[in-house]
Amino acid sequence: MSELRFDGKVAIVTGAGQGLGRSHALALAERGAKVVVNDLGGAVDGTGASTGPAADVVELIKKNGGEAVVNADNVATPEGAKAIVQSALDAFGRLDVVVNNAGILRDKSFGKMTVEEWDAVIAVHLRGSFLVSHAAFPHLKEQGYGRIINTSSPSGLFGSFGQANYSAAKMGLVGLTKTLGLEGARANIKVNAIAPVAWTRMTESLLPAEFEARFTPESVSPLVVYLAHESCETSGEVFSVAAGRVARVFVAEGPGWKQENHTVEDIRDNWEAIMTEQPYLTPTTLGQQSGASMKAML
Ligand code: NAI
Repeated sequence: MSELRFDGKVAIVTGAGQGLGRSHALALAERGAKVVVNDLGGAVDGTGASTGPAADVVELIKKNGGEAVVNADNVATPEGAKAIVQSALDAFGRLDVVVNNAGILRDKSFGKMTVEEWDAVIAVHLRGSFLVSHAAFPHLKEQGYGRIINTSSPSGLFGSFGQANYSAAKMGLVGLTKTLGLEGARANIKVNAIAPVAWTRMTESLLPAEFEARFTPESVSPLVVYLAHESCETSGEVFSVAAGRVARVFVAEGPGWKQENHTVEDIRDNWEAIMTEQPYLTPTTLGQQSGASMKAML
């Protein structure tokens, strides 16, 4: 089988100074992509800034014979997002792939979470992914080709104690991925999301020590690289990826219970049927989902 290459292609990887983003940037560059290595270079909670981590990744890519530029703009501001896209255009004259990976944590149990902690996390993950994709979109649309990979999380898909802000942002990214997948379809812009687990500075104090050797960022990057490739036709999907395993995650709807003009008590009395999962439906569009409701009306 031929190797999947990115010669002549340009990718932006946000938050690529370390951890997962660094690994994605190196993997894309190794296959010929020219890479904008974006990173604000702050702490896990998003405070502080430094160009050091991004510069180190660019140096490594160049040492390996690749091409890359440093960008230290903030994904969470419209000006920052525009500057990130502009740096791809200025340095390499085009843009093909956006990997929205930058992220921070401000974990706190819900009752103790401040508005500032909520806003800061939503701003980087959800708003940041929107802003960078939004700045990139006209360029991708004009050339009739583009790939966007968003970084969701099992914490968002399934919930995680102490991470209301982070979970909301990460599940928000699933909605963004699905809608942007639909809106990008005509222009051959495929949009997918990953929900990884990897040993990074973000998770090293949360994961068991034995995870370090197997839950590597490098074990997540092959999926990102595949989703970034021109040959990948999939769009609007979410994938669980960790330690060598890759799985599609899908939103399912149970078969449902139906009774016209039902009362509150009917709901109570039929709760078990309403909660039943099998045989579930997996609508991939709103049309398919409403189709299921329409069928129930017949
Ligand atoms: P990390 O902390 O090593 O990397 C995140 C990078 O994003 C940092 O280099 C940071 O400087 C950068 N960044 C933060 N705010 C930024 C901003 N406003 N603009 C530009 N860059 C910014 O963490 P890790 O683990 O590599 O996380 C990468 C992504 O993967 C995040 O979105 C995270 O939520 C997600 N993720 C990670 C998991 C894991 O197990 N490590 C699990 C699920 C999701």
